[in-house]
Amino acid sequence: MTQSTSAQGGGTAVAGERPTGPMVRVDNLHRSYGSGAAAVHALRGISFEVPRGELVALKGRSGSGKTTLLNLLGGLDQPDEGAITVDGTDVVGLGEQDLLELRRDRIGFIFQSFGLIPILSAAENVGVPMRLKKADPREREERVALLLSLVGLGDHAKQRPGELSGGQQQRVAIARALANRPALLIADEPTGQLDADTGLAVMELIRAVVRSEGVTALVATHDSQLLGLADRVLELNDGELVDHGPQPNRR
Ligand SMILES: Nc1ncnc2c1ncn2[C@@H]1O[C@H](COP(=O)(O)OP(=O)(O)OP(=O)(O)O)[C@@H](O)[C@H]1O
Ligand SMILES: [Mg+2]
Repeated sequence: MTQSTSAQGGGTAVAGERPTGPMVRVDNLHRSYGSGAAAVHALRGISFEVPRGELVALKGRSGSGKTTLLNLLGGLDQPDEGAITVDGTDVVGLGEQDLLELRRDRIGFIFQSFGLIPILSAAENVGVPMRLKKADPREREERVALLLSLVGLGDHAKQRPGELSGGQQQRVAIARALANRPALLIADEPTGQLDADTGLAVMELIRAVVRSEGVTALVATHDSQLLGLADRVLELNDGELVDHGPQPNRR
């Protein structure tokens, strides 16, 4: 008789095995800027988990620590204290090369300002992460076409960012973030530069790709209208976390 394995909660990546446990686990995370009387405590010992397959919204007033937290999760910054696990990998202990591979292969970033390369077409922008990974060109072209149609831009592949609307540019950025089939999407106010309707459409697209692509997403947003699309809302208040638990409108 086969015993069921109880890897639950382990969350440690072993070569050749898919990591189990939550997609993100944060334990007692501290990050301060500056020192002495002028020190800013951006994160004051926060702990939480992001379950796999969920869309988690991160809210909080300006300066509450959202960007600081997302940068730490993405390995763009190092904490003063505390542990971070992303997709079974201990991010804090990683060296430069491993961090680079984590960011390239397992995390997709979406920024408020889109971050597209102006001289490249929409399709070329989406293909950049796959080029960095030296993916087979044919495979890359197929996936780029699929992703552009997924985000509703199949007819705009050749246009450069400057020839696209803000909402369309953010759709390209979402497609690019998905290029290498990341486990985790990290988005820092992805609708911050968009009008309300366009912002809602972009958030609905993120909601849809979390379902269709099986990714997990952590999205910082100021916009209360977008919080209703999340499975869960985390709130930062002056560097401390308030967990709102599962949302009543969860679908
Ligand atoms: N590089 C830095 N040097 C010094 N202080 C910083 C730095 N980055 C952030 N801070 C401070 O840390 C605190 C948290 O900033 P953070 O950018 O994480 O907030 P946020 O929640 O993302 O705000 P917003 O909603 O305006 O984007 C703020 O008080 C900010 O001034
Ligand atoms: Mg911010």
